[in-house]
Amino acid sequence: MGDLVTMDDLTNEEIDSVLVVAERLVPVARGDVHLPLLQGKVLANMFFENSTRTRMSFETAMKRLGGSVMNFSSIGTSVSKGETLFDTMQMIDGYADVAAIRHPRQGAAQYSADAVSIPILNAGDGAGNHPTQTMLDLLTIRQAHGSMEGLNVVLVGDLRYGRTVHSLSHALVRFGVSLTLVSPPSLRMPDEIVSDLRSHGAEVVETETLIEQIPNADVIYMTRIQKERFPDEDEYAKVAGIYKLSASDLTGAKKGMVVMHPLPRVDEIDPSVDSTDHAFYFQQAFNGVPTRMALLCRSLGVEVPEEVV
Ligand code: NCD
Repeated sequence: MGDLVTMDDLTNEEIDSVLVVAERLVPVARGDVHLPLLQGKVLANMFFENSTRTRMSFETAMKRLGGSVMNFSSIGTSVSKGETLFDTMQMIDGYADVAAIRHPRQGAAQYSADAVSIPILNAGDGAGNHPTQTMLDLLTIRQAHGSMEGLNVVLVGDLRYGRTVHSLSHALVRFGVSLTLVSPPSLRMPDEIVSDLRSHGAEVVETETLIEQIPNADVIYMTRIQKERFPDEDEYAKVAGIYKLSASDLTGAKKGMVVMHPLPRVDEIDPSVDSTDHAFYFQQAFNGVPTRMALLCRSLGVEVPEEVV
């Protein structure tokens, strides 16, 4: 019941209330306020694939709320002896109160959620979904623009294999956002996702060129080409480095336009953008902490007080 596998697990009202709680928890996330709401609770961080921000912000979120964390990695565990995901998750069911799981296989988070009784938070399943990232992305967009209704969000790069944009695009159309999808033809957003977006009544434009989208954008969301998901190195080489944003490209942008990126960046955003008012990707990465705090509290059924002081 406290699972979060795809954005369909949250209603718009639940998304709103998690974001309100996340905003309230910012001083706790910064370490300015001590609030041990999750004392005695244990999070299992189950990362079968590389991660910096997701794993560490889950860990920071849990620890800042007084809980503790077990960090699992597929290196140095019985996974290398051939243990199945099902068996590994059976152990975690007995050791932890909640688990965040990242896995290279699409569907692995749902499979885990079905296999255990503790709540499962999907921290990225292959080229599938990444809903906790979407929640922190929505928090960042709200901080920048207030509301989401009517915004034009431009999603750029690897829309085929990028799980962040799969979850994010779905959530955005539910809040009345217009989407512009920028990718090379080989990395287009999968047809079933585009149909889902249109079925929500959203305006969705698909194009290959980024530069002409800049003046109308309220958000430009850059993504990394997902090298590890390509079946063929040559196919990757054809699209590597295809979109690069520099400060000089942003002269015609709207004043409040924000540039986002789930990170890590390779060469999609030139460091010259970092010192502009448009750069929001480091604030976005910080937002992983209060957002995951709010999601951990939700999954564990812990109420966050109205006043956090
Ligand atoms: C993303 C991921 O793992 O899907 N990173 C993240 O969680 N912040 C994006 C990426 O790896 O390109």
